[in-house]
Amino acid sequence: MRRLTLAFCGCGSRARTYASIAAEMPEHYQLVAAADPVTDRLDVVRKLGEKSCAHFRSFDSAEAMFAAGKLADVVVIATQDAQHRAHAIRAMELGCDLLLEKPIAHRLDDTLAVQAAAQKLGRRVVVCHVLRYTPFYNQVAEIIRQGEIGDIVSANFIEGVQPWHQAHSFVRGHWSVEAKSSPMLLAKSCHDLDLLAWLINRPCLSVSSYGALTQFTAAKAPAGAPARCTDGCPAAKDCLYDAHRYALPEGRRWLAMVYDRAKIADDAEIFTWLKTSPWGRCAYRCDNDVVDHQVVALKFTGDVTATFTMTAFDEGRQLEIFGTRGILRGGAFVKKHLDCDLVVTPHGHEAAPRKITVKAPTAGYAGHGGGDYGLMQTLHRDLTCADPKAMHTSLDTSLQSHLMAFAAEKSRREGRAVSLDS
Ligand SMILES: NC(=O)c1ccc[n+]([C@@H]2O[C@H](COP(=O)([O-])OP(=O)(O)OC[C@H]3O[C@@H](n4cnc5c(N)ncnc54)[C@H](O)[C@@H]3O)[C@@H](O)[C@H]2O)c1
Repeated sequence: MRRLTLAFCGCGSRARTYASIAAEMPEHYQLVAAADPVTDRLDVVRKLGEKSCAHFRSFDSAEAMFAAGKLADVVVIATQDAQHRAHAIRAMELGCDLLLEKPIAHRLDDTLAVQAAAQKLGRRVVVCHVLRYTPFYNQVAEIIRQGEIGDIVSANFIEGVQPWHQAHSFVRGHWSVEAKSSPMLLAKSCHDLDLLAWLINRPCLSVSSYGALTQFTAAKAPAGAPARCTDGCPAAKDCLYDAHRYALPEGRRWLAMVYDRAKIADDAEIFTWLKTSPWGRCAYRCDNDVVDHQVVALKFTGDVTATFTMTAFDEGRQLEIFGTRGILRGGAFVKKHLDCDLVVTPHGHEAAPRKITVKAPTAGYAGHGGGDYGLMQTLHRDLTCADPKAMHTSLDTSLQSHLMAFAAEKSRREGRAVSLDS
């Protein structure tokens, strides 16, 4: 089996996840290089790499790494959304295949430029739509493939981002201002649109969408709330978003994604850090402009239809797929209230609903329900198989979800249905 060498472009939260999984698969991967201006992050990947690569190379920027020429078979592009286009194209020009974090790029023209470059240069690109690699969604795909619910006529997907997650990532965090990152649907829900396109297995023709930012605005701020939670807020006790919660065990899990010392810092250090960090700001007084709820109606070929809701005010994903022979339901609500993962309800009166518990992934549910691990397992096969058509997924397939997201955003802004052709 050919071992693939990996170079990491960015060593943030996502890159470190992939690096630690890859380091546990020495028969598949060797980590040979990494770049990040933040030394502590670079060091995490370097230490993992040096276990199996004596000549591991570190750089303080992706640009410096690329200037050194082709260092690896595969470059993991895990910098921020607005950097993907430049970093992805440069790595492909050097002759590398890519593991590319979603989104492919943060604008439509940049996304198409990455696709055009991959095509021209003949490079393979796997986009990190990690949910495709989870046992849960593979079981959904299998039930559909076996014909248990017949032909899909329509579907309804919901993604509950969860209020704290919304505030952390899309109000205070990296993806809160569209001009600096991506539209909400692309940043958070390109996974869901990718799953819809994959499971329905038809081209999407047209979308229409509504959505807005209504909760995380100055108009909803509690009376007397200052600009920062650390300035002494009269509403702190009852506020879901009080930044002091970052010092609690669950808060620290989130903090670790943005503050490298989160696990070792004492409460006093965290409170001092919050005084100047974006994550210490009042969740009602930030510069955020991405939506906190959005609905999308989608039309596929064959008049198959789907709806998708993204909301800050639910937690977890839900799916309902309506077929000619039955309905498949699953997700967070089913898990909580029916004590299983999926339920198939056949049409007609004779057959009883079938409850399905998905076999737990070997590596556990950590990391997107097992998807991070599943992706790294599949990546090796996808990048070494003789025929690119045999890949589990491809850049062209991933592009579909992005076109659906861009079209939905255009529809939301312009108040009209948008065809994907346009
Ligand atoms: N697949 C998923 O489910 C998923 C989940 C979260 C984030 N993401 C995506 O993954 C990407 C990374 O997100 P993250 O949460 O790891 O962000 P992050 O901010 O933790 O990591 C980005 C890293 O890039 C580094 N960097 C900045 N400029 C650089 C340069 N010129 N050269 C090299 N490194 C540079 C930063 O210092 C940082 O360490 C984003 O595009 C994000 O949208 C995907």
